[in-house]
Amino acid sequence: MSLSGKKILIAVSGGIAAYKIHFLIRDFIKKGAEVQVIMTPDAEHFVTKLSLSTLSKKPVYADFYSDNGTWNSHVEMGLWADIMLVAPCTANTLSKMVHGMCDSLVIATYMSAKCPVFIAPAMDLDMYVHPSTKKNLELAESFGHYIIPAEHGELASGLIGQGRMAEPDTILAAIEDFFNADTKKTLVGKTVLITAGPTYEAIDPVRFIGNHSSGKMGFSLADEASKRGAKVILISGPSAEIAHGENIDLYRVTSAKEMLAKVFEFYETVDIGIASAAVADYAPKQVAKEKIKKNDESLTIELVKNPDILRTMGEQKTHQFLVGFALETQNEEENAKVKLEKKNLDMIVLNSLRDEGAGFKNDTNKIKIFTKTEEKEFDLKSKDKVAADILDFVEFQLLK
Ligand code: PMT
Repeated sequence: MSLSGKKILIAVSGGIAAYKIHFLIRDFIKKGAEVQVIMTPDAEHFVTKLSLSTLSKKPVYADFYSDNGTWNSHVEMGLWADIMLVAPCTANTLSKMVHGMCDSLVIATYMSAKCPVFIAPAMDLDMYVHPSTKKNLELAESFGHYIIPAEHGELASGLIGQGRMAEPDTILAAIEDFFNADTKKTLVGKTVLITAGPTYEAIDPVRFIGNHSSGKMGFSLADEASKRGAKVILISGPSAEIAHGENIDLYRVTSAKEMLAKVFEFYETVDIGIASAAVADYAPKQVAKEKIKKNDESLTIELVKNPDILRTMGEQKTHQFLVGFALETQNEEENAKVKLEKKNLDMIVLNSLRDEGAGFKNDTNKIKIFTKTEEKEFDLKSKDKVAADILDFVEFQLLK
């Protein structure tokens, strides 16, 4: 099974089994997952940041603060992850997790994470069967965490019994099974068209008018729709994002006019249209053929209105379920409702730049959804989870 696009946060604590994590990271990456490793200070006695970061292709953090004076945000990492895996999980780390003893980056991240948590305990046999460990594992299970039980065999102490961390293959299989069960193929047979990213409107051959959109929200929507079995047409302005899904046709465009033209190549055939692109409302009236020289103290560029892609989609709507976004900075709800009406939409997703962590560039977003009769507000979440909320809402509307 592919783990394409899955975001896996691995917390390594200080036990000899930490060496096995290297194999697991390699397997996760091979299967297309993104891996972020964090570790307790004690884990550094067993494995190095260098080996873990080389395999995971990301910096590895053990402390709240990096050597260059920056802050390693436990909240961001916690929200970023699709799952968190604590492996090996020592008796000490397990105890701190279930009792909220927040004295390290690992525990603070665990307590900030909203995703499912997997625990692969590893300890000596007497510690594993000790009543306090048993109680702590029960507590972890009662929190909804998944325990990947320790295996029987020779332990680092030389004793033989249960306590060895599960083999990487066993942990991998448990996580694959989880994602497999999690995938709802609810959009099979549907075609979903998504616009994403910014548009760039040329001023001259080297300059343009653009905005801060990264494309993350649109690409998350495309990945989620693809996971649900939809055929996805993703039309994106300039973005560094990569589409992970198998059934995504990605078209990269630059300007609003190019985006409009590409959308209408397919619009008739789509079942659901989602406009998450931040399209420039205006473009320079004239594009200079040569680079404009800085001869004068000021420069005036005349701008003309760009086509409103979503509004045109609304005007030409026949059977499509149409979802727009509203990016607002004031009178948010009022403005979103006006757009819902004016652009003839079935649903609008409001995100406000006044909410911390929402809108452009962030890996997170905070949204409120409106239809003509309903509204629903969501917490701050990763854009992947926001995409799932949006598609759940769309599916619910389609079932009515
Ligand atoms: O890409 P990210 O960094 O992840 O950021 C995500 C996002 C903030 C860009 C996204 O969540 C978002 O809010 N997208 C819509 C941004 C926007 O342009 O909003 P708006 O309120 O100006 O436009 C309303 C709707 O009309 C949008 O669906 C927009 O795609 C569409 N539109 C706007 C103008 C235009 N000329 N054509 C359009 O289709």
